[in-house]
Amino acid sequence: MALWGSRWRKPLDKTVEDFTYSLDFDKRLWKADLTGTLAHVIMLNKIGVISEEELKTLKKEIKNLYLEILNNPDLIRDSEDVHTFIEENLTKKIGDIGKKIHTGRSRNDQVVLDLRLYLKEEACNIAELLIDLRKVLFDLSEKFINVPMPGYTHLQQAQPVTLAHYFLAYDAMFSRDLERLEDIYKRIDVMPLGSGALAGSNIPLDREYTAKLLRFSKISDNSMDAVSDRDFVLEFLFFSALVYTHLSRLAEEIILWSTKEFSFIRLPEEYSTGSSMMPQKRNPDVAELTRGKTGKVIGNLVNMFTVVKGLPLSYNRDLQEDKPSLFSSVDELKITLKVWTGFLSHIEFNIDGMYRFSSEDFLFATDIAEYLVLKGMPFREAHKVVGEIVRFCEENNKKFRDLSLEDWRRFSDLFDESVFSLLTPESSLKFKKTYGSPNPDINREVIKKRREEMKNT
Ligand code: ARG
Repeated sequence: MALWGSRWRKPLDKTVEDFTYSLDFDKRLWKADLTGTLAHVIMLNKIGVISEEELKTLKKEIKNLYLEILNNPDLIRDSEDVHTFIEENLTKKIGDIGKKIHTGRSRNDQVVLDLRLYLKEEACNIAELLIDLRKVLFDLSEKFINVPMPGYTHLQQAQPVTLAHYFLAYDAMFSRDLERLEDIYKRIDVMPLGSGALAGSNIPLDREYTAKLLRFSKISDNSMDAVSDRDFVLEFLFFSALVYTHLSRLAEEIILWSTKEFSFIRLPEEYSTGSSMMPQKRNPDVAELTRGKTGKVIGNLVNMFTVVKGLPLSYNRDLQEDKPSLFSSVDELKITLKVWTGFLSHIEFNIDGMYRFSSEDFLFATDIAEYLVLKGMPFREAHKVVGEIVRFCEENNKKFRDLSLEDWRRFSDLFDESVFSLLTPESSLKFKKTYGSPNPDINREVIKKRREEMKNT
């Protein structure tokens, strides 16, 4: 029977029972629910609602149920939701004492407590996975700190960068994601129990004590908001969508790089798939699925916004729909971060091929314009002069490298012998002065700084 059944004369219609049932997905909150229940009864004992004897029995039965479920998770069935399942099972074992555990508590504050406990733990797991991924990016950046590759804008060859610079660009995204997660954590870490159904309780529950037992940093200060607030879920779903979007961009890069046309990388066998028909194929399924699953993870955020946007205060059953979205994003994010950490560390890079493309000499056009600026020419004029040189080269089927000093000086007498030292990717990188540029010396500093910052996460 439902927890609220005493006033009802007729049983719930079977279709409604099926329609409202949430145990299938909320059963994963069983540990959080038992932990919250344990803290609640310890607090009830402290304020004199439960005797020492009763507390002892409750503790024992909570522990037993914990172990039973741990050994046999299939035990969780036949109840409307996980909270009902746990309360019913405790009551079945210890009769009247079990009936006391819901004192001053509603499933409305209980469900949000469970969700917060669950998410605190998962946020820490995900932070660790992000750190693992970032470590791989740092290692790759160190390894390829001097390896030139072409950088693109509009997917057209632009200027030489390094493979390290590419990885550090993605790491910059993940470092912001980690920072965001830390910030969101503060708002997950709020203890709602004691808010009751919506208006608190007449029983003097010691909320601070419950918070301390459950290691929450603070307690909520408005009971209506506490039972209806899902901002922390929305924030987490946004965070997941953004991490996933970053991974999806990286995925797109990998897919492109693995094509015959680019041939910048070779996909590791353990992380790619073949074709059932074309024997020569090696497909980037990990990257493609990441790109594909991004739709679902962004969808989870949109779903939750849509659930919340028209809700009056306070708790409404609509809020039960927060869980499938949240669990889906947590699961996808965890496995995806894990798979990318392994995937990236196994990719083979075609360093020679990247070098060849980064040596295409029009990639040095901007360096040449800046060379003229450093010799005193206004930038617009320098841009025009180099544009003319490019046109000359194209029309005469020449490269910058084929030009003699005389040729250069026909366009500007500011050119001297030193112009020849500009025409390799190494010099292009070495001459970069600005912090944040691909200059390997600067990137070494950046890696050091980021590793340091990450340690304090
Ligand atoms: N299963 C519900 C949820 O996930 C919690 C129960 C609250 N139900 C209620 N009718 N007050 O939000």
